[in-house]
Amino acid sequence: MEGNLKPPLIALDGPVAVGKSSVGSLLAKKLGYVFFDTGMIYRAFTWKVLKSGVSAEDKGKLCELVTATEFNFVPSKEGVLSVFIDGEDVSSRLLSPEIERLVAVAAKVAEVRQAMVSEQRKLAQRGKVVMAGRDIGTVVLPWAELKIFLTASTEERARRRHLELSRRGENSSLETVLADLKKRDEMDINRAISPLKPAEDAIIINTENLSLEQVVDKICTLAASP
Ligand code: C5P
Repeated sequence: MEGNLKPPLIALDGPVAVGKSSVGSLLAKKLGYVFFDTGMIYRAFTWKVLKSGVSAEDKGKLCELVTATEFNFVPSKEGVLSVFIDGEDVSSRLLSPEIERLVAVAAKVAEVRQAMVSEQRKLAQRGKVVMAGRDIGTVVLPWAELKIFLTASTEERARRRHLELSRRGENSSLETVLADLKKRDEMDINRAISPLKPAEDAIIINTENLSLEQVVDKICTLAASP
């Protein structure tokens, strides 16, 4: 499979809980690429914001904090990246409700985004990367050879996220999950800088009635076609 591949960079964008991580990690595994979920870097920074006691609304403090933060990414054997902040592996701590609530607030700040974009581009230089996020096709890697934008209805995404949370033993109601998801979508779509939207040359895949394997197979076919 690897021999036929054209694009060394695949941009995978879409809203909250559309399946970017599941699709991206399986896709990367099949293609022998590394998967980088850029939501992790925004979450990792938010983890530091919380740890430092800085308000996520305080732009000045966020700018100082992001400049003073050292990010590092280490691929696992499975091709998924672990995120290190100032030398500490924080990858397993990034799905907490506190981070979930604040991450889109910190992600609105221009200087924070600039720092994140530069980290993401450094990483993309290695090639053979599937990079997932909100602005990968539009801002981070507009030169990516293949750009995919995943969609699914808000209700379906809330259902998927609710299931995922229940599996992890977190028991939020479906209504709460739906309300949080709508709020984060709203912030991601309407922010002034790098809002969530498909790149003009992105291929849109509605995942609503497709299995994970079907979505990944579709993208593999696109990646292999001239
Ligand atoms: O994808 P995930 O839900 O982990 O992303 C967390 C948050 O990080 C998003 O809601 C968004 O505010 C921000 N984000 C972003 N740009 C990206 C990836 C994530 O603004 N490329």
